[in-house]
Amino acid sequence: MALIDELGRLRDDGLEAIAASDDLTSLEAVRIALLGKKGSLTAALRGLGGLSAEERPAVGKVSNEVRTSLESALAAREGTLGSAALRARLAAEAVDITLPGRRRAPGREHLIARVVREVSDIFIGLGYTIAEGPEVELDYYNFTALNTPPDHPARNASDTFYVEDLSGETAAVRGESDVLLRTQTSPVQVRVMENATPPIYILAPGRVYRRDVADPSHLPQFTQIEGLVVDEGITFGDLKGTLEHFAREMFGPQRKVRLRPHFFPFTEPSAEVDVSCHLCDGVGCRMCKGSGWLEILGCGVVDPNVFGFAGIDPERYTGFAFGMGAERIAALKYGVPDLRHFVESDMRFLRQF
Ligand code: DAH
Repeated sequence: MALIDELGRLRDDGLEAIAASDDLTSLEAVRIALLGKKGSLTAALRGLGGLSAEERPAVGKVSNEVRTSLESALAAREGTLGSAALRARLAAEAVDITLPGRRRAPGREHLIARVVREVSDIFIGLGYTIAEGPEVELDYYNFTALNTPPDHPARNASDTFYVEDLSGETAAVRGESDVLLRTQTSPVQVRVMENATPPIYILAPGRVYRRDVADPSHLPQFTQIEGLVVDEGITFGDLKGTLEHFAREMFGPQRKVRLRPHFFPFTEPSAEVDVSCHLCDGVGCRMCKGSGWLEILGCGVVDPNVFGFAGIDPERYTGFAFGMGAERIAALKYGVPDLRHFVESDMRFLRQF
């Protein structure tokens, strides 16, 4: 019977075409050519209508077999070509995991931040809390309320950065602007005392600014750590004991402390504090320039005039204060010969700490 022969040919050609397809696109084209609406099997089956009722079942059976064998050949070929395609894609997109990775340096704490933290931790351990004040400060808090006379040299525009007022009309010279970049953290003392009643035990770390040219021992912007205690019955002995404790925690248990008389407008009496050199144990070395001592801070008993400005009763309370440069403490503790290293962001320097 012609139709059955034709179906047999169609199957053989079809299977050949399926086997010859070498990618999924051409296989799909073969599928459409065979089994699609306009495909050759569909076309052949149109001949079914012209057959007699006796012939039809046999031809129908053959055509079903042909369809099934084409469909399973298509499915099998699709599976083969599909996994070959996947393998090819995986090979093309493969990542070479033998290439060394690019190392990302994790950030680290700057040495000055670390020293601020170390000093803060020591005083927090004594019950102090941390206080802050503005870096753009009023002349009143930076100088006047700290008992600094109007003609004090630190008020000169050659020492202090004055800030012009918003109108821009005020020249940035002494006496013509009330706004400045604080030259010390001591104004935080006044701000704290204005807003608190004793007992006061605070530590105030922060940035300060001075019109200095950067050199090994000066920076125009640096970091101070201020301390203030106001309570009943506070004496100079409390100050000395506190500083001894600090020096030993910071520089080692063998350290000795020495106070030399000094002058600050806001303390009376005032002193500068030296710690015995931790490198040579006080014998004398390059670090301490042969003296055996390192100067670490200024301090004193709060002047009653400052209490007057800040609204603290000087009959009832006494207090002490101290201030240190974090860069200087860091340089002494970690043997850094030039303060400029702290601001130059040279990774070779920073990575050492
Ligand atoms: N403010 C002083 C300075 O910048 C340091 C200082 C000295 C702070 C004595 C104090 C103090 O609180 O009592 O040189």
